[in-house]
Amino acid sequence: MSSLGNSLFIVLALFCFFLTTSYGLPNVKPIDDVQPEQTVAVHNEIRAAVGVAPLVWNETVAAYAQNYANKLAKAGTCAYTDMRHSGGPYGENIAAGWVQPKDQMSGPIATKYWLTEKPNYDHATNKCKDVCGHYTQIVANQSFSLGCGSYRCHDNELIWIICDYYPMPVGDANTRPY
Ligand SMILES: *[C@@H]1O[C@H](CO)[C@@H](O)[C@H](O)[C@H]1NC(C)=O
Ligand SMILES: *[C@@H]1O[C@H](CO)[C@@H](O)[C@H](O)[C@H]1NC(C)=O
Repeated sequence: MSSLGNSLFIVLALFCFFLTTSYGLPNVKPIDDVQPEQTVAVHNEIRAAVGVAPLVWNETVAAYAQNYANKLAKAGTCAYTDMRHSGGPYGENIAAGWVQPKDQMSGPIATKYWLTEKPNYDHATNKCKDVCGHYTQIVANQSFSLGCGSYRCHDNELIWIICDYYPMPVGDANTRPY
């Protein structure tokens, strides 16, 4: 009697584990979060709005961004406060967002999120009233191409997007993005 009870418990516990596993968020390939075509398209709409030539996708730069993303994933870098730039030869924008309760991050969504800094950029004085460096990177006419990578944290629920830009814009006070 008691042995039957024990084995029922074990079966139930295994079944619950199976349910959790099968109902948890599935693994997603980084490229499905990056969405290169749509990411380029959103960048180019934002650039066209201020008369800047379009960017193209750059596989070399994308491989660099994905390599950095893999490194951060392996190191378990998930907290906003732990995030650092890769310090490489490119301009770089980074964003994060949660999948739950609804899909709130991807390459195109990150790009639209950086666009929210546009009102902070004053073209007349070439100064930022508040954070605007992600926006000025998107519209920088010194960059011709970009590539992005991504990784997920917290059981696939937090998505990090990293976009790198080539060439890196000069980005000093005297150089305008356009
Ligand atoms: C892509 O990036 C590589 C490495 O930075 C660079 O040499 C190449 O010219 C770039 N290609 C385009 C189309 O921008
Ligand atoms: C970028 O914009 C600056 C400022 O308007 C301009 O002087 C420069 O020629 C532009 N460069 C390119 C590559 O369009």
